[in-house]
Amino acid sequence: MQTEPEIGEILVQADQLKHRIKELGEQISLDYEGKDLLLVGVLKGAVFFLSDLMRHISIPCEVDFMAVASYGSATDSSGVVRILKDLDAAIEGRDVLIVEDIVDSGLTLKYLLRNLGARGPASLEVCALLTKPERRKVELRSRYVGFEIPNKFVIGYGLDFAERYRNLPYVAALVEQ
Ligand code: IMP
Ligand code: MG
Repeated sequence: MQTEPEIGEILVQADQLKHRIKELGEQISLDYEGKDLLLVGVLKGAVFFLSDLMRHISIPCEVDFMAVASYGSATDSSGVVRILKDLDAAIEGRDVLIVEDIVDSGLTLKYLLRNLGARGPASLEVCALLTKPERRKVELRSRYVGFEIPNKFVIGYGLDFAERYRNLPYVAALVEQ
């Protein structure tokens, strides 16, 4: 019989998240001083990270959102990405920072970098809260990374399993029964 999955080992505690996100916000504030910074959050997972990050950015900045769906199974993306919600405004000439919850295979971000890159931004970089280097299928550089984590499916702080668990204040491994 299929039972509910369980919350496993905590990989990143709430206070570690808080501390690291403050550091990232301060670094971004220094790097983008005098620039036209636009944060692009990838719905839905990155919303929690983005809203905390943005409160540690001390320079003028704006925010916009994209929603994408990656075809594949519940825990594996295929690299075929569909835009569910596009940006509200053009990004030509702007300094765009994509804010993502996690880089897994890297296929979603690779698609986003290509898609947004074609719109003529002045610069285009990535800020990812988590990365699973062991899972990477494509070459990808993220300018800002919060934490490297092992090859485990994780939940919490925006990350979901079948839309649940986003509300956990920490990042934990999922234990499937
Ligand atoms: P990628 O295209 O394989 O890099 O996957 C990117 C997306 O898959 C992320 O933005 C997440 O939404 C989702 N994802 C990848 N790994 C995890 C995980 O461990 N937990 C929850 N969602 C994940
Ligand atoms: Mg997701």
